[in-house]
Amino acid sequence: MTILVTGGAGFIGNNFVHDWLAAGDERVVNLDKLTYAGNLSSLADLRGDERHVFVHGDIADRALIARLLAAHRPRAVLNFAAESHVDRSIHGPSEFIQTNIIGTFQLLEAVRDHWSGLGEAERGAFRFLHVSTDEVYGSLGENDPAFRETNAYQPNSPYSASKAASDHLVRAWHHTYGLPVLTTNCSNNYGPYHFPEKLIPLVIVNALAGKPLPIYGDGRQVRDWLYVRDHCSAIRRVLDRGVPGETYNIGGWNEKTNLEVVQVLCRTLDELAPAAHGSSYAAQISFVADRPGHDRRYAIDAGRIEKELGWRPAETFDTGIRKTVRWYLDNRAWVEEVQSGAYREWISRQYERGGAGG
Ligand code: NAD
Ligand code: DAU
Repeated sequence: MTILVTGGAGFIGNNFVHDWLAAGDERVVNLDKLTYAGNLSSLADLRGDERHVFVHGDIADRALIARLLAAHRPRAVLNFAAESHVDRSIHGPSEFIQTNIIGTFQLLEAVRDHWSGLGEAERGAFRFLHVSTDEVYGSLGENDPAFRETNAYQPNSPYSASKAASDHLVRAWHHTYGLPVLTTNCSNNYGPYHFPEKLIPLVIVNALAGKPLPIYGDGRQVRDWLYVRDHCSAIRRVLDRGVPGETYNIGGWNEKTNLEVVQVLCRTLDELAPAAHGSSYAAQISFVADRPGHDRRYAIDAGRIEKELGWRPAETFDTGIRKTVRWYLDNRAWVEEVQSGAYREWISRQYERGGAGG
């Protein structure tokens, strides 16, 4: 048996591939375009492992997908591939439209074509699992109830709008063509192999380099945080037991302001790798211009996946953050490798003109 994963050289995708192969021997075909966010070094330990087949390519390349489906006959396709960074979507939305919308459309069409030619039993057992985000639901007020699967979509950034569009396509391919799809909407992930453009890895990497820790606006925006391997176990559970056509919210029951997150990181780093300057890393915190259109609060009600599929996260924020900080301390070579010229260009464009709006 085989599954096809897209975007498996990115943060969540590579954690998923590792998690999958640790849990069993079912083969993974891993299709990734290797954008700035895709790093083969994240998969280096799988070199020579016959259960993992890496293919360099684009989800928008329908002919390539058709060839892969015909050659490997996967029982499921899991779509992680996307442009994922909100700030980049503000500076340049085109790639987000191309990959997240057009790419998902081309992938769905290739999969539909393949799936409709399968025998009845294989067709019934087949799954297309689309990995999406809580950002499609928009922004919550301080006292609003957490997002449920029934909330209306109200995306506010080019990124979340493109993900919302892809979710709608996936839904339509089920209702119109009967494709057995599953959609997951997850909150903010953190953990190993997280690209250091996102808040948590950026703060760890900047702290250790003695650089400012940039906090957008007042830092009181709220996110729900989930350790990435918990997201992976939730996806496996949805793939195994989810009902085709349904969507599942995934979260950690763990709302924090950005300021709280950065303070926890500073305390953990103070303990595990005290700064040479002798003060807390918190001294490096720097408030910068806010992200345009910054969503104030996300919160996930993960009641459905808990009750219907029996999934709960294994890590608390404290255990997950400790594991994450230790991983970055032990894997400085990975960080150096992903901090390419393209990475440095992004950091100077985003922060050196005074903040996120620059
Ligand atoms: P990431 O940016 O770290 O990785 C994305 C991967 O997709 C990269 O390896 C990249 O090379 C690949 N890719 C991009 N365009 C491609 C294309 N056209 N064809 C093939 N591969 C392509 O993203 P991530 O944080 O790992 O997110 C993975 C998925 O999970 C995304 O769909 C994202 O929307 C969703 N998600 C992320 C989070 C989070 O907190 N990171 C939370 C909820 C949902
Ligand atoms: O909610 C799920 C989403 O979480 C995913 O769909 C996205 O792919 C993922 O990138 C993430 O989006 P966010 O915008 O929430 O993540 P980010 O790490 O970019 O920012 C987290 C919060 O921290 C957000 O409120 C913006 C703020 N922030 C971010 C950066 C990079 C700062 O204050 N300073 C920063 O330098």
